[in-house]
Amino acid sequence: MIMTTPLQPKEVTVGVVGLGLMGCSITTCLLMSGHRVIAIAPIPADMTTAIPRITHHLQRSKEEGLIDRSPEEVLKGLTLSEDYGQLAPCALVLECTLENLEIKRAVYEKIEAVIRPDAWLTSNTSAIPISILQSLTKHPERFFGLHWMEPSHTTRFLEIICGEKSDVAEAEKLYELSHLWSKEPTLVRKDIRGFITNRLMYAMYREGFNLVENGYATVEDVDRACRNVAGYWMTLVGPFRWMDLTGVPAYHTVMKDLFPTLSNRTDVPELIDKIVREGGRGVANAHGFYEYTEEEAKLWEETYTEFSYEIRKLALKYPADVVKKKIEKHGK
Ligand SMILES: NC(=O)c1ccc[n+]([C@@H]2O[C@H](COP(=O)([O-])OP(=O)(O)OC[C@H]3O[C@@H](n4cnc5c(N)ncnc54)[C@H](O)[C@@H]3O)[C@@H](O)[C@H]2O)c1
Repeated sequence: MIMTTPLQPKEVTVGVVGLGLMGCSITTCLLMSGHRVIAIAPIPADMTTAIPRITHHLQRSKEEGLIDRSPEEVLKGLTLSEDYGQLAPCALVLECTLENLEIKRAVYEKIEAVIRPDAWLTSNTSAIPISILQSLTKHPERFFGLHWMEPSHTTRFLEIICGEKSDVAEAEKLYELSHLWSKEPTLVRKDIRGFITNRLMYAMYREGFNLVENGYATVEDVDRACRNVAGYWMTLVGPFRWMDLTGVPAYHTVMKDLFPTLSNRTDVPELIDKIVREGGRGVANAHGFYEYTEEEAKLWEETYTEFSYEIRKLALKYPADVVKKKIEKHGK
């Protein structure tokens, strides 16, 4: 990709393929950032659900002060189509379809038949190694993971992941561009299953299952502990800064005795297996680790949306370089 720096969103047309939960919030983020977005609906249902979902995100974003322009004005940057041919002018394409290798393979074939050989092709996969996905493409060197967190238009998380065959210099350009999307992005130069975040999160999920299945805690106990411990500091700092803040030697002492007792199981726990066998999807169908009435399930979804706008405001007050900024301010 030949580009002049600094990059301007309006110069970069972006394609989004797959308009489910994440495709819609990612499209919202890109539109709010000023990109022209060509959104492709791989299944007919997306053609009817995508615009109302994106409009809803934009309306709420306007109410919360995330955008100055009206939702109608922002939506003018969007083209919605079932025709992959529309992707031809895109410099960047994001695949956001189901976590299924065969579906992604078929989608890449259609995208690559249309886009320029130097356009970036990316996947929002949660955990399929990028080296595996890029082996399905004709030009693996321009293929990267672009991993977002729901709701993508409010969260500051973004991972850009290289596979074995990715061109790291191109990933650096993509990383630079992603700073224009109100993110604190991370460039993962070396591919690993689960990338950074899901490795950390799944280590925690595994220990949660271990505590519950072995009778040390209930699901509620685990949730309460996480909300009131990690939940209290994690928007400000990560685990390493947290250890610095609270005294490194104590962690050193605890690790010696505690690490050998932590779960290192490699199978899927029965607790989650049973829910999935029964068709449970969580609040989406009111059956998960907790049982919900339909009203409760809907209210949990709404409450999470409300919370994501609130925590965004707090997070913006505490960027990664918060202390550096304070020193600069005091120095003046
Ligand atoms: N949900 C999350 O919080 C989250 C977080 C990070 C990454 N992801 C990843 O993002 C991707 C999409 O997840 P989602 O939560 O938006 O899923 P979703 O179920 O809401 O949407 C799936 C979309 O996939 C597409 N699709 C479905 N069947 C298809 C087919 N046969 N052929 C082509 N496309 C088809 C459609 O556009 C559909 O709307 C997945 O790879 C997922 O692992 C999800």
